[in-house]
Amino acid sequence: MVRIHPSILSADFVNLERDLEKIASADGVHVDVMDAHFVPNLTFGLPMVQRIAEVTSLPIDVHLMIDDPDTWAPQYAIDRVDSVTFHAEATRDAVSLARELRARGTRASIAVKPGTLVDDVLEHLAEFDMVLVMTVEPGFGGQSFMGEMMPKVEALRGRAEELGIELALQVDGGITADTLPIAAASGADVFVAGSAVYGHSSPAERITALRDAGKGAFDTGRIDLRAIHRGIAGTGTAGSLET
Ligand code: DX5
Ligand code: ZN
Repeated sequence: MVRIHPSILSADFVNLERDLEKIASADGVHVDVMDAHFVPNLTFGLPMVQRIAEVTSLPIDVHLMIDDPDTWAPQYAIDRVDSVTFHAEATRDAVSLARELRARGTRASIAVKPGTLVDDVLEHLAEFDMVLVMTVEPGFGGQSFMGEMMPKVEALRGRAEELGIELALQVDGGITADTLPIAAASGADVFVAGSAVYGHSSPAERITALRDAGKGAFDTGRIDLRAIHRGIAGTGTAGSLET
């Protein structure tokens, strides 16, 4: 299934309630928390996420781009927050943090920046409900999609299938109707889009267009996903993992 999560980083923060209503047809809302330390940009923290939770009925997907998520991330596991994503590069103990998030009733998700390998995530994949593969350097909207991240997506999807676990696989950065099918064909199923949704006069139309672009990637069979996954499993990537 293709799920579209607009990122409010590209919304009007002064009219956020209005801009949340514009994306009511989405599958979730992606909320970027940045601390100006882990990334060179600053947005907002828990009080804003709490207010968003009061005014939207969409599932909230919190993307924490902050230092020390081991300390701060559990606080974000509030009502209406469907998943909390923390960065692999920032955490001391990803597995313990994921377990704590799950214990608090939210889905646990781990993110990797473009320069971070997924080997450690693959080793502990069952501990996570979602993996976020960044397709831009985190920090800013409006950057170009990095197609060279797709082998990570393919490896994660292949491993999840091998293990027989349900894993949401999210891509974030530069997602448009042109790039979404590439990520979908690689195994992603949750698509974050900031500028592609809010940069247009009708966000609702853009959500539909993105969803259709994703469905097309599966329906036309342009790329045989299962063959891709079999290929990855046969290259030695899977063989180097603990089983
Ligand atoms: C960037 C954020 C993204 C951002 C994506 O660090 O994590 O969620 O909003 O913006 P676009 O879709 O414009 O690349
Ligand atoms: Zn994000």
